[in-house]
Amino acid sequence: MTSVARMRVGVLTGGGDCPGLNAVIRALVRRGVKDYGYEFVGLRDGWRGPLEGDTIPLDVSAVRGILPRGGTILGTSRTNPLAEGAAEDGRSGAERVRDNLAALGVNALVAIGGEDTLGVAAHLGDWGVQVVGIPKTIDNDLGATDYTFGFDTAVNIAMEAIDRLHTTAESHHRALIVEVMGRNAGWIALHAGMAAGASVILIPERPFSVEQVCSYVKRRFQTRYAPIVVVAEGARLQQDNAWLTDQPRDEFGHVRLGGIGQFLADEIEKRTGKEARATVLGHIQRGGTPTAFDRVLATRFGLEAIDAVKDGDFGKMVALRGTQVVRVPLIEAIRELKRVPPERYAEAEVFFG
Ligand code: F6P
Repeated sequence: MTSVARMRVGVLTGGGDCPGLNAVIRALVRRGVKDYGYEFVGLRDGWRGPLEGDTIPLDVSAVRGILPRGGTILGTSRTNPLAEGAAEDGRSGAERVRDNLAALGVNALVAIGGEDTLGVAAHLGDWGVQVVGIPKTIDNDLGATDYTFGFDTAVNIAMEAIDRLHTTAESHHRALIVEVMGRNAGWIALHAGMAAGASVILIPERPFSVEQVCSYVKRRFQTRYAPIVVVAEGARLQQDNAWLTDQPRDEFGHVRLGGIGQFLADEIEKRTGKEARATVLGHIQRGGTPTAFDRVLATRFGLEAIDAVKDGDFGKMVALRGTQVVRVPLIEAIRELKRVPPERYAEAEVFFG
């Protein structure tokens, strides 16, 4: 059994970055050093760090001033050690991670990430790696937690953009289409669209018909106001998704989404005779300083995670349930993505037309 009195904690951030990552790292390190006397090792670029033994110093001075900063001081990547082929010496990716952590004297690991990063974390438990997970994604689609940090910031950025688009859309009598992030779940589209009074909100959970969208657009023009259509990048048509074929993939095989906004603008213009333009918010939603909500949530997650390390409570993920930060089994967190449930579609429909 590891002695918790001489703990050396590795920390990594994996997957897409999001506002609040630095706030988590700061909370972990400050409480870990000051209250428990732990040492920390930063692992660079997600799972690539422990896979290759690439580290960065992580102490109280390294985390000074980072609370409001976006991104992650540790760097990130989508490297998946479980998908790596065997090394020349025959060791698998998981074995290399385990061995490199042991060589670094790391006896507990805090993995901050989304579904993919935490999936690896859950699996590494079987290899004797003592891990605590912290959920992160602007998409807010991780199961077992009511909210992930980064989501509130992304929603606020999208809301502000939509507010601005309203005035220019009305001046020019145009339909404006706003494409927001949301690969598998439409939380950002739903919340930003509701907060900013969009005319139509399209989410991956509810395939849509272009005809119906065009009828809402026409109806909105009849009121002499201009329609704003918010569409999640992962939204799909009820029929004929042929335009999706041959979407590019990133180096880790993930489909690089994007293009539905322009597709819709073209269709709306063709079918309604009204001018339609698309705006893609893209990575602006992920960059920059976190909101107060995300800073507080990220800090609370960091504090709870390092307490879990102190308690030897591994194989857990910290989560928000109501207003409480709790610990749940990592395996539960990655079992199922949290999609927008049907009862929330109706709230979006209030804004249709
Ligand atoms: O997972 C969060 C997310 O923001 C998705 O909504 C989006 O599809 C993806 O990241 C984009 O990732 P990348 O920056 O790697 O292309």
